[in-house]
Amino acid sequence: MSMQAISSLDLLRGTVRDWRQAGERIAFVPTMGNLHAGHVSLVELARKQADRVVASIFVNPTQFGPNEDFARYPRTPEADIAALDGAGCDAVWMPDVATMYPFGVEGTVRMRVPGVTEVLEGAHRAGHFDGVATVVARLFNQVQPDVAVFGRKDYQQLAVIRYMVRELAFPIGIIAAPTKREANGLAMSSRNQYLTPQEREVAATIHRVLHAMRAATLAGTPRERVEADAMAALTGAGFVPDYAAVRSPELGLPEGGAGQDRVALVAARLGRTRLIDNLEFTIP
Ligand code: PAJ
Repeated sequence: MSMQAISSLDLLRGTVRDWRQAGERIAFVPTMGNLHAGHVSLVELARKQADRVVASIFVNPTQFGPNEDFARYPRTPEADIAALDGAGCDAVWMPDVATMYPFGVEGTVRMRVPGVTEVLEGAHRAGHFDGVATVVARLFNQVQPDVAVFGRKDYQQLAVIRYMVRELAFPIGIIAAPTKREANGLAMSSRNQYLTPQEREVAATIHRVLHAMRAATLAGTPRERVEADAMAALTGAGFVPDYAAVRSPELGLPEGGAGQDRVALVAARLGRTRLIDNLEFTIP
């Protein structure tokens, strides 16, 4: 195995410093582990953008709500290390909680990102995106990459990261990677593990509903109607939906028509599992 698994900050910094002194460009792929083909595709995209790829695996306590799945989030480090090595990753940064938060979670300097964190996912998961920004800012300081790759699957997370990078002037390019899906259209996610085989089939409904939202929007159906029909379709299929929304790329209410970009977004619970997905499109 050529890839290094690193859990000491000094070793990480030394490794990255050596690469940088050799003139190499460094790409970074942050994850919470339990890697699937979606994560691997991010590493492969990073590989094409840089000479060295650093991934991270850290299940970040500050982005989980008190009633969320932090304790039971799937942790599979051996399989993850093998997958990253196979994808051509050079190093995986695996800090423990005490390394990431040396003064404890209570003692951490926290990010608070205004605006984009307050709607949709942010409205349903209070503090979630501030926790994501808190850990990603630290990861950026620790790894100091030239570019970082994030998945479009987490559309709003990508918007939060772009906002933070711009607002805090991080010298890091953000690259968006397409969503990897199962054959039935279900977006790959570590949380899909919680689904029963039957639920996995039902879960693909989200993808079909997103396509129906696009088709209805392109046919000129008013946004409220598109969203209400999508909520009804999800409920009818057995979900408890949190939202089905058509928004502008910045997640505001859409205005204008021809030539404008849109994103349809859904969050819905199926049994104990909360799933999100989205579909980007352009009004012709
Ligand atoms: P995690 O859910 O492990 O996702 C890590 C990265 O993989 C994110 O950029 C996410 O958008 C991307 N990803 C997940 N499923 C994908 C799919 N089906 N296709 C393509 N990319 C996919 O997102 C997080 O971790 C955390 O919030 C993190 C950014 C690491 C901060 O803790």
